[in-house]
Amino acid sequence: LSLLVLHGPNLNLLGQREPGIYGSLTLAEIDRLLEAAALKLQAKTFPLQSNHEGVLVDTIHGAIGKYQGILINAGAYTHTSVALRDAIAAVNLPTVEVHLSNIYRREEFRHHSYIAPVAIGQISGFGSQSYLLGLQALVHHLRKDEL
Ligand code: DQA
Repeated sequence: LSLLVLHGPNLNLLGQREPGIYGSLTLAEIDRLLEAAALKLQAKTFPLQSNHEGVLVDTIHGAIGKYQGILINAGAYTHTSVALRDAIAAVNLPTVEVHLSNIYRREEFRHHSYIAPVAIGQISGFGSQSYLLGLQALVHHLRKDEL
């Protein structure tokens, strides 16, 4: 299984960005943890971070025929981007939404996700573990016919 891992805006600053909320691991460290966990599940992760909505949209379009699923932390675009949501709906690849922080116990503007209705499910609030749990859920979903 080849899986696209997408990180949205400001996640390149992980490790130094509000560590009380987002934890102390850097994005590179999270990507390494994901790679190792994927390997154990006989899957491969292909991470990409961008601060640009259009780059994220283009990358999702490019996922067709290349990846079997998408793991995405859309960052603040979660709460604003109809374009990202439409891109995920358009490519029709199983997508799991993750957030480091629990978006529902934070500011009201973070409570709504445009991504959630086009995702299989969402994992929010477990720090870097959210990504690992999301990966596990995505792989399980993709392999459920084999189990
Ligand atoms: C986030 C939550 C978003 O509200 C915020 O804009 C982020 C990170 C998270 O992982 O907790 O950039 O997606």
